[in-house]
Amino acid sequence: MTTLLADTCRSLDKVDYRILRLLDRLLTQYEYVPAEIIERRTKIPSKALAKRLDKMHKLKVIARSPAPRLGYRLTYLGLDCLAIRTLVDRNVITHLGPQIGMGKESEIYLAKNAEDKVVALKLYKIGRVSFQKVVRVRDYLTDEVNWLIRSKVAAEREYKALLDLRKYTKYVPEAFGWNRHAVVTEFINGVELYRYREANDPLSILRKILEVIRVAYNDVGIVHGDLSEYNVIVDVEAGEIPYIIDWPQYVYRDDPRAQELLRRDTLYVIKFFKRRYGVELDVDQALRYVKGETDEI
Ligand SMILES: Nc1ncnc2c1ncn2[C@@H]1O[C@H](COP(=O)(O)OP(=O)(O)OP(=O)(O)O)[C@@H](O)[C@H]1O
Ligand SMILES: [Mg+2]
Repeated sequence: MTTLLADTCRSLDKVDYRILRLLDRLLTQYEYVPAEIIERRTKIPSKALAKRLDKMHKLKVIARSPAPRLGYRLTYLGLDCLAIRTLVDRNVITHLGPQIGMGKESEIYLAKNAEDKVVALKLYKIGRVSFQKVVRVRDYLTDEVNWLIRSKVAAEREYKALLDLRKYTKYVPEAFGWNRHAVVTEFINGVELYRYREANDPLSILRKILEVIRVAYNDVGIVHGDLSEYNVIVDVEAGEIPYIIDWPQYVYRDDPRAQELLRRDTLYVIKFFKRRYGVELDVDQALRYVKGETDEI
């Protein structure tokens, strides 16, 4: 199986990757890295360099500055290739498969790891489909560069949250690695909760989700903050096991918004199960449960 992404990454050679890595290192310092800086830092003769930059520009892994001052910056596609190259070099993944999902802020691909296990590769794409003005990480940089930086932050947060969570619950995907704006996790062979209509034991699924909210809050010290039927995948074949995904926006327990978000996350899932399956669960009791004030729900 080959994709535009895989083909693009494959058509770059070692020297191209060196240039991309330099642009990545200088990401926070320039809107566009001036061509003469690239030349000086890579020591590639200017004619050969211009040819390479031309080729990479055509492949859309870099963007060119508007005239008059010639400069370049990474695009999301360039960052994708860098992250994938690094994950392959580190043996986190060995093959890139087809794209299987597209979120508001990410693209999800299948991949394989060294044990030939199918894994999910999430590439953050913050800002790509959102027309909202983002809060800038660095004021002097373009929106595009700020989005790349924010995507890297999101990937690191998600990876670290999943690592911590897995110490206490198996109802989140196992995390295998992370680089730049990419996270590699266990692939959940299931169906999103909002698309699943024929649960045999909805109450048991709901209880497991509440258990995750509870250990996240009490053991890890975080609140998901965007929990709903869209961020739960149910592995039906394994016996309706839910997995809570999509953690980058979590807040710490002592954050001023934590209590409100904890309540909202809990309420959303309870309401969903009531609406779809008529499951009746006392909200206040559930809130005491997720806060660790009682063991009963
Ligand atoms: N580990 C996984 N295993 C299987 N499918 C996954 C996995 N992670 C994500 N997906 C699929 O990709 C979709 C988007 O994933 P996710 O919610 O993490 O991204 P997102 O960009 O934050 O999405 P959104 O903004 O729409 O919530 C999921 O709804 C799911 O269908
Ligand atoms: Mg999501």
